[in-house]
Amino acid sequence: MSTGMHDHARMLVRRDRAGDHAAVREVIAAAFAATTPQGVPVEVGLVDALRESAEWLPPLSLVAETDDGDIIGYVVCTRAWVDDRPALGLGPLAVAPAAQGQGVGAALMHAVLGAADALDEPLIALLGHTDYYPRFGFRPAAELGVTPPVADWASHFQVRTLSSYRPELQGTFRYAQPFNEL
Ligand SMILES: CC(C)(COP(=O)(O)OP(=O)(O)OC[C@H]1O[C@@H](n2cnc3c(N)ncnc32)[C@H](O)[C@@H]1OP(=O)(O)O)[C@@H](O)C(=O)NCCC(=O)NCCS
Repeated sequence: MSTGMHDHARMLVRRDRAGDHAAVREVIAAAFAATTPQGVPVEVGLVDALRESAEWLPPLSLVAETDDGDIIGYVVCTRAWVDDRPALGLGPLAVAPAAQGQGVGAALMHAVLGAADALDEPLIALLGHTDYYPRFGFRPAAELGVTPPVADWASHFQVRTLSSYRPELQGTFRYAQPFNEL
């Protein structure tokens, strides 16, 4: 079972391994339990489906692990498109409730942004809180001419550009196929 971090505990962010999958499911289930009235949060099945999909990118599936070996956070980016050009979709991002508010989410975000940039990916999009993601360089997607796949998402749909971004990358964003089956 994943726990929170102890005071002054150390943590590292690394790629996930086959042996982490059950712990990753637990972290996602616990993090999204608050927004799920009953049953298993859809984000758990989403990550399982993404793992099996053509859009899965192993270098961009990251866990946060304590010194004690507990998985306390998870983030993933998967292949997505702006019209027919490759980009990334971020999500889910999840931190175990007992470990929230200690910078774990920020560490995961910085790590996955750096990894995506190193892979020469141009842009990452996500649907998320407008008071959390701007601190990581996300901006309203509309400012850059990237349109969400569902018009109602516009207020929370954000993009982060990376080094290989060019302003011509405008159009309609499309997530990896498993997102369409939610
Ligand atoms: C969102 C989440 C990943 C943040 O992880 P975390 O480790 O707590 O984040 P950090 O410690 O790096 O940052 C904490 C900051 O995030 C803010 N924050 C956390 N959840 C937030 C939310 N839902 N909306 C706005 N801000 C939020 C906190 O207020 C805090 O802000 P401050 O630094 O200005 O005080 C975590 O709260 C979580 O797993 N939530 C449930 C799942 C979820 O909503 N995931 C994101 C959508 S895909």
